[in-house]
Amino acid sequence: MESYFTVFKDESKLDINYLPPNLSHRETQLNLLTKFFQYATEVPGKMAQRALIVGKVGTGKTALAKIFGLRLMQRAQEKGISLRYVHVNCRERKGSLFMILQQVILDFYPHFPKRGYSSEELLQMLLQMLDEKNMFIILVLDELEALIQNEGADSIYKLTRIQESRLKAPQRLSLVCIIRELDCLDALDESTKSTLQRNIIFLEEYTKNQLRDILNSRVALAFRNGVVDEEVVNLIAEQAEKEHGNARYAIELLWRAGKYADASGLREVSPDCVRRASSSVYPTVQKDAVFSLELHEKLFLLGVARRFKQTNATYITMGEAEEAYYIVCEEYGEKPRGHTQLWKYVNNLSATDIIGAKVSEGGVRGKTTLIELPFIPAEELERELSRRLKVQ
Ligand SMILES: Nc1ncnc2c1ncn2[C@@H]1O[C@H](COP(=O)(O)OP(=O)(O)OP(=O)(O)O)[C@@H](O)[C@H]1O
Ligand SMILES: [Mg+2]
Repeated sequence: MESYFTVFKDESKLDINYLPPNLSHRETQLNLLTKFFQYATEVPGKMAQRALIVGKVGTGKTALAKIFGLRLMQRAQEKGISLRYVHVNCRERKGSLFMILQQVILDFYPHFPKRGYSSEELLQMLLQMLDEKNMFIILVLDELEALIQNEGADSIYKLTRIQESRLKAPQRLSLVCIIRELDCLDALDESTKSTLQRNIIFLEEYTKNQLRDILNSRVALAFRNGVVDEEVVNLIAEQAEKEHGNARYAIELLWRAGKYADASGLREVSPDCVRRASSSVYPTVQKDAVFSLELHEKLFLLGVARRFKQTNATYITMGEAEEAYYIVCEEYGEKPRGHTQLWKYVNNLSATDIIGAKVSEGGVRGKTTLIELPFIPAEELERELSRRLKVQ
C-alpha cells in the first residue's frame, strides 16, 4: 500500500500568524522605522516618539512592526535597557481604550484586577508602573481605525498627550499606529493628527514581481523540493497583484492550492489547484456571468474548459481553444462561428474576468494569444456549462 504523500514540508510556515525572519522589499521601511526609534536604545526617556504605518490590506504592516519590535528589543537587551514592545490589535480589543490598556497592563501584571478603573486611571497606573520599574514601552496600536470608530478622537488624544503633563519625568510611552487609509484620521483634531503624521511610513501595494519573491521564499520554507513550479508561483502572484498586491491573499492561495493538490493525490501543485483554490478563497462572482453568455460563447468556453482539463499548463493558445471549440460544435450539432467572431468572444470573456487573455511575448511561434482560466476550476466550469447547454 502506498503511504500518504503530501506536497508540504512544513505547513505552519503558511499560517497567517507565522512571522517570517525577513521581509523582502520592506528593507527601506524597516530602516526608516528603526531610525525613528533610534533614541530608544541610545537616550531612552529623552523623548516619546510617534510613528504611523499606512498601507492597504496585506501590504505587510503588522509583520513589519513585529519584526521591528523583535530587533529593537534585542538591541535594548544588549544595552541593558528595559524596553518592552507591546503589540495590540485595536479591533480585537473591540476598539476600546480600556481593553487595550488592560491588555498592556496584564502583560506586566497577569493578576491585575479586571474591573474598577477608568481608562484614564489605567493610563496613569501604567506610567507609574513604568516609573517604578524604570521601563520604557513602545505600544503598537494595530488597526487603529477600530479605536477611532468606536471612541472618536478622545482616546487618541489622551494617549498622545499623557506625557505632556509630566514634562520633567522621563518619557516612557512611545506609539506606533497602524492604519489602512490616511483618511481615517480625519475624525481627529488637527493637532493630534499632525502629531501622528509627523513620521509616516507608507507601504505600497506589492507588485507582481515582489509577490513572486515573497511566494518563492514561502515555497522554500513550506513545500517539498520541486513540487511548486515557477509557473504556479507566477499564476498566484498575478492574481494577488489584482487583489491590490495583497501578500496575505497570495500566501493563502498558495496554501490552499497545496491542500487541493494533497486532496487530489497529486505529487505537485498544478495550475488547476490554484484555480480551485482561488474560487474557494473568493466565491465565484464569475459564475453568474457564465450563465448569461450566448450559445456560441458558452460552446467556446466549454472547449476552453475541456482543453484545460486535459493539460497541466497555465495557458492555452488561441489555436488550441479554437480546435477544442470545433470539437464541441460537432458534438452539439452546431455550425462553428468564424475566427473574427471568436476573437470577440475572447475579448468579452476576458473583460468579465471569466478568462484571462494576453499576447505571448514572442517565442518560436511568434506572437500568439494566450488564454488562462484564472478563477474557475476547469472541471467545475465544464460541469456547469454542460448542464446549461443540455437544457437549451
Ligand atoms: N515582504 C514580505 N515578505 C514576506 N512575507 C510577507 C511580506 N509582507 C507580508 N508578508 C506576509 O503576508 C501576510 C500579510 O501581512 P500583514 O499581516 O503584515 O499585512 P497587513 O498589512 O497587516 O494587513 P491588514 O491590513 O489586513 O492587517 C503575513 O502572513 C505576512 O507574514
Ligand atoms: Mg495587519
